[in-house]
Amino acid sequence: MSVATHHPLGGEGLGTFGPEPQPLSLLINGEVRTALADPATTLVEFLRDALGLTGTKIGCDRGACSACTVWLDGEVAASCMTLAFDARERSITTIEGLSRDGELHPVQRAFIEHDALQCGFCTPGMVMSCAHLVNKNPECSLDDVKTAISGHLCRCGTYPNIFKATLAAAAASKGKAK
Ligand code: FES
Ligand code: FES
Repeated sequence: MSVATHHPLGGEGLGTFGPEPQPLSLLINGEVRTALADPATTLVEFLRDALGLTGTKIGCDRGACSACTVWLDGEVAASCMTLAFDARERSITTIEGLSRDGELHPVQRAFIEHDALQCGFCTPGMVMSCAHLVNKNPECSLDDVKTAISGHLCRCGTYPNIFKATLAAAAASKGKAK
């Protein structure tokens, strides 16, 4: 998945903020989005509460469950452990930005086809980590998938179908690349 190399908000400088809320502009899913935030706002709070991007979930809110996984500059990150102001000059991708031209990412499609969710609460975070793996390594093995989601807690226990879905998505991506 490509990420912007030129940051449209670059050069703003990293100043001192707070304690009052102030406008914060972040590059999210290829668009600059602006809303008020105070310096203690986490990225997931900013996404959900300020921008209405509720696909990213809050589970533990302390870096232990990975429900809040997004990509920062194309790498997976826990958005509950990232201050929104620290995401300036980064390129943020959320589950809402994973599809392209109306087409689901192969991992999203495979999760549907392989019934890789029950309640769905962990699913956006799982998809972000599995899509990151498949994009980086379409030759990934079952062990690679297990490692990629080792920080994710699924209380419904859908792990076997998540493994199958991710390997199927990897096989499909590999086929496309040929
Ligand atoms: S909500 Fe961020 S790791 Fe659990
Ligand atoms: S599908 Fe319910 S927590 Fe994972």
